[in-house]
Amino acid sequence: MITKSVFGNAIFSDKISVALGNVQFPEGPTNLYQPIRYILSLAGKRIRPQLVLLGADLFGDTPIDEVVPASVAIEYFHNFTLIHDDIMDKAPLRRGQETVHQKWNDDIAILSGDALLIKAYEQLAQCPAIVVPSLLKTFNKVALEVCEGQQMDMDFETREHVSKEEYVNMIRLKTSVLLGGALEMGAIIAGASNQERSKLYRFGENLGIAFQLQDDILDAFGDPATFGKQIGGDIIVNKKTILHILLKQELDVADFALFTTILEMPASKSESKIQQMKELYQKYAVLDKANALKEAYTRRAYASLDEIEVENRRKEDLFSLADHLMNRAR
Ligand code: IPE
Ligand code: IPE
Ligand code: MG
Ligand code: MG
Ligand code: MG
Repeated sequence: MITKSVFGNAIFSDKISVALGNVQFPEGPTNLYQPIRYILSLAGKRIRPQLVLLGADLFGDTPIDEVVPASVAIEYFHNFTLIHDDIMDKAPLRRGQETVHQKWNDDIAILSGDALLIKAYEQLAQCPAIVVPSLLKTFNKVALEVCEGQQMDMDFETREHVSKEEYVNMIRLKTSVLLGGALEMGAIIAGASNQERSKLYRFGENLGIAFQLQDDILDAFGDPATFGKQIGGDIIVNKKTILHILLKQELDVADFALFTTILEMPASKSESKIQQMKELYQKYAVLDKANALKEAYTRRAYASLDEIEVENRRKEDLFSLADHLMNRAR
């Protein structure tokens, strides 16, 4: 049985933490490998490797050594996306520290991200040989979808109107497919049937949508002491977040004009832009509406997990991880 605890800095899985901490990167070129050591050392919540583990554990007592490389691969891939995402989002802070492109520069962040992606494939190649083709199929599918979602996210910044449906599809791609994929990869390693794999993927997909809704909420309303990222970063770059989309639907004529003015405020007025936009969010109770949507997707996720035909005790960790994620502060 896998030793794990749910979330946070608790033990979660010693073996995964050790594997993520232990992989040796060459000393040089320092500007290629130091940023990788840096981002991995900042750790984060490590949800995705945990999902690989829990996905496997749902379907039997798979030896942990068979699950570790896929877990590490997913976490490397995730960290690669974060390094590049922070360039695209012009983000100064990640996990409470300077982002890679801020600490070094964009060129270094691009290349160290690329190297980390290759390191993810190196890990995948170390998974049990019999499941490697199947793992690659799932991994490649979701990895490409993450790129599609990220491109939509960028395109939406400068697009005037984005519907709620378009937004949900964008976050499904940029964020939730990787959670679904992590779970499905665990299920593949454990030898689950296609049908059970799909139900688990759907759980991850809906959970991931709720997860990104919470991320959008925290970006505006999180506590700077715990969130680890710049508060209001999404507002500064006019991201089409759930808060933005729900607000736009509700505005009266006068506030719509104010909203447009806020969107056009220059970078030199970021603080005031954030404050004014948050005042509109508060006036129209957008936070409550976003939370209600997040809860609806969480319920959908739970319904998919309920459908999976394994003993209930095997689902407990996934249910409690999901609960934690939806109420998290970082
Ligand atoms: C951040 O993911 C990117 C999103 C998809 C919102 P996490 O919130 O899992 O980041 P870390 O790995 O814990 O820092
Ligand atoms: C990021 O979404 C999704 C990926 C990294 C693929 P965000 O841009 O909202 O993530 P954060 O808030 O920077 O972590
Ligand atoms: Mg970002
Ligand atoms: Mg982004
Ligand atoms: Mg975000």
